[in-house]
Amino acid sequence: MKSRLKRIQAVLGVDPLWELFYHTLGSQDAPSVLRWGLVPHNYYEFGTGWGDSLQRYLSAARSYCRVTGKDEREFNVVAFDSFEGLPESVAEADRNPNWSRGVYAYGLDHITRLVRRSGFRGKFLPVKGFYGDTLTSDLRNELRAIPPSIVNIDVDYYSSAASVLAFLSPILQNGTILYFDDIYDFFGSPNKGELRAVLEFSASKTVSLTPYYLHGIPYLFGKTFVFSRD
Ligand SMILES: C[S@@+](CC[C@H](N)C(=O)[O-])C[C@H]1O[C@@H](n2cnc3c(N)ncnc32)[C@H](O)[C@@H]1O
Repeated sequence: MKSRLKRIQAVLGVDPLWELFYHTLGSQDAPSVLRWGLVPHNYYEFGTGWGDSLQRYLSAARSYCRVTGKDEREFNVVAFDSFEGLPESVAEADRNPNWSRGVYAYGLDHITRLVRRSGFRGKFLPVKGFYGDTLTSDLRNELRAIPPSIVNIDVDYYSSAASVLAFLSPILQNGTILYFDDIYDFFGSPNKGELRAVLEFSASKTVSLTPYYLHGIPYLFGKTFVFSRD
């Protein structure tokens, strides 16, 4: 992802993911959104890998606080990862020649160091372990106090993305913005990967994930969604 984003940055002069985070923070602080009851400033990242996207969020949040005078200490970052790389794929819809068990293994110490070096003064809450073990209803209840307002899902596999969405569903807020990094990693097949998880989730009559184009950066079209509950 890093080199793709860098190429786009070189051409457009902006970093699309940084922009997405920055503008989402701004739009979620708008009175017209807050009036709906949205609780802002809670970033959840599923799949921290080597910390590339996390760094972008931390930088965007710090800039946003500098510009608006918001207090960084009111920002929460929750990071969910095995910190041992990908698990074994468990479903046909996960299988991709680029991924296998142990790929992207970066330890929690690597990520903690990165957060410290970023100067971020908000709360950083790592959740270490494979999702089958960590994404429990007890954890979800603890997180109700800081419901997600921005969610970055970069977990590659269909099965991981489906577990993440099932876990999040009860605590997602109307207006939560979700970014899925790997939507196109099976050439757009609706039967595989993160796209399958999104389509299955959206098939429910009571919740929806709708592609969100308002931040207008072509690289992210089709990867950014807004959540709503009927
Ligand atoms: C491509 S990497 C994420 C890259 C990261 N967003 C970045 O920008 O550096 C995918 C991550 O998802 C994590 N992951 C995928 N499935 C998982 C699961 N079931 N449980 C825990 N972690 C998982 C892997 O450990 C890996 O760190």
